[in-house]
Amino acid sequence: MKIAPSMLSADFGRLAEDLATIERGGADIVHLDVMDGHFVPNITIGPPVVRALRRLSSLPFDCHLMIERPQEFIGPILDAGAQMISVHFEVEPHLHRALSMIRSGGAMAGVAINPATTVEVLEDVLSETDFVLVMTVNPGFGGQKFISSAVGKIARLREMIRRQNLEVEIEVDGVIDPSTARAVVQAGAEILVAGSAIFGQKDPVEAIGRLRIAATTDVT
Ligand code: DX5
Ligand code: ZN
Repeated sequence: MKIAPSMLSADFGRLAEDLATIERGGADIVHLDVMDGHFVPNITIGPPVVRALRRLSSLPFDCHLMIERPQEFIGPILDAGAQMISVHFEVEPHLHRALSMIRSGGAMAGVAINPATTVEVLEDVLSETDFVLVMTVNPGFGGQKFISSAVGKIARLREMIRRQNLEVEIEVDGVIDPSTARAVVQAGAEILVAGSAIFGQKDPVEAIGRLRIAATTDVT
């Protein structure tokens, strides 16, 4: 199980300090939300900021592209230094091409799905995919409300991956905190993205530790 703090909930005026904090807290991956104001109703960061942060950290960068025409930005995001890139199923009619562009650039290729998208649409593209990002909120903002039907979807996806005998990782994003983490991990998620549960806390270092314990411990 890996923890990927989402920089969307960090202080955009202190990104370098917040990056150092999560590194100190034992984060495994840095989750960077790239938004375009079209696919989602918000605008965040793009390749120049990813590149600037890249110089400040040794952790893998996971760029979640919430943008229309993602293929146009795969090259710039790879150049900026991403190790993982996900594109949304809902905006990419040519997923095989997009995933192969990501892999050819040396990064792990992911498909992200919105809460209303069923996992079964991934059946024929799973073998080209390194990870699936299951959204448990409608993308665009941190600090929303957990859509609990996503837990069943994660379990179905885990079963699809097992049936195809693949090693696709499942990442989950949206209100992952100590109260939701255990259920998604038990359903089969391996990468937990968390924004508010880390940067919204007084001590983000301690919050990462608390999330890790909650994700791996059964409540008795
Ligand atoms: C939402 C983003 C998430 C967001 C999660 O569209 O994809 O990565 O930062 O934030 P929390 O953990 O607060 O739901
Ligand atoms: Zn995200």
